[in-house]
Amino acid sequence: MVTGAGNGIGAVIAEAAVKEGYRVAAWDVDEDAARAVADGIGDACVPVRVDVADEESVLAAVAALPQAPDLLVNNAGVVRFGPLLDLPAADWRLAVDVNLTGTFLVARTVAARMLAAGGGSIVNIASVNGLAAAPNAGAYTASKAGIIMLTEHMALEWAAGGVRVNAVAPGLIDAGMSDAIYADPEVRRLRSGRVPLNRLGSAADVADAVLFLGSDKAAYVTGQTLAVDGGITKGALNAMPRPRSVDSVGVDPVGVDPVGVDPTGVSSDD
Ligand SMILES: NC(=O)c1ccc[n+]([C@@H]2O[C@H](COP(=O)([O-])OP(=O)(O)OC[C@H]3O[C@@H](n4cnc5c(N)ncnc54)[C@H](O)[C@@H]3O)[C@@H](O)[C@H]2O)c1
Repeated sequence: MVTGAGNGIGAVIAEAAVKEGYRVAAWDVDEDAARAVADGIGDACVPVRVDVADEESVLAAVAALPQAPDLLVNNAGVVRFGPLLDLPAADWRLAVDVNLTGTFLVARTVAARMLAAGGGSIVNIASVNGLAAAPNAGAYTASKAGIIMLTEHMALEWAAGGVRVNAVAPGLIDAGMSDAIYADPEVRRLRSGRVPLNRLGSAADVADAVLFLGSDKAAYVTGQTLAVDGGITKGALNAMPRPRSVDSVGVDPVGVDPVGVDPTGVSSDD
């Protein structure tokens, strides 16, 4: 089961899961989008209209499942930008309702089926924005941080019943809701250059991590959040120049773009 499978990352996860041999229920509030994705994938993918923020919709869709799914991917999400002082309460509520409450409602309803069946695996899609604050993204970051803690709680509550729960925190991903950001080539260049692995991530990068955590290869992993971010969340100190007098990094702090620091220890202006 993949929620939010009608677009972006969710569509790629659904396709990758079918390639791995899963049959996929592609859930989305946008029924036409889910159907278009399923049509492109083939018979192993079935579209279902579900609003993850609406408990009745979730209960009905889970009750209609012929069996407990082996893997649930809580991917449906929305972003609303704006400084907290001006953010309309409706935007805050939408982000929290879809991202956090939606993950809660779908996960606990599906987990009940998994627990009755003896086990299963759940992967929640968080974000690096759940690990680090970002400008004008307070509703989104709070909802994604909530998903990370909810993942830990669900993992502890359901471990004894054989249900593993993990999260993936994608970084700068060149897909889906970020399409508008990366339409600008200069923004692409600047953002890519800030990633230690020196590129944007793809939806396939996220799908690979999801399928790993969902599989028996991760049989002893639960309650974890795996950042799929090219290293950006480990780079907080990467942009701190040191004076040449201190060590061989040798960057002159004045007027040097810290992003040019070469991780081998040789400064880019040497
Ligand atoms: N694209 C990125 O840069 C990026 C980075 C980090 C995390 N993420 C996360 O990855 C996930 C997928 O994002 P995306 O970029 O593919 O976005 P997207 O907007 O392309 O796709 C999101 C999908 O969720 C569906 N959806 C929205 N509200 C729903 C609801 N109430 N019920 C069911 N479906 C609903 C939408 O119809 C859409 O098909 C999200 O959770 C997002 O927060 C994305």
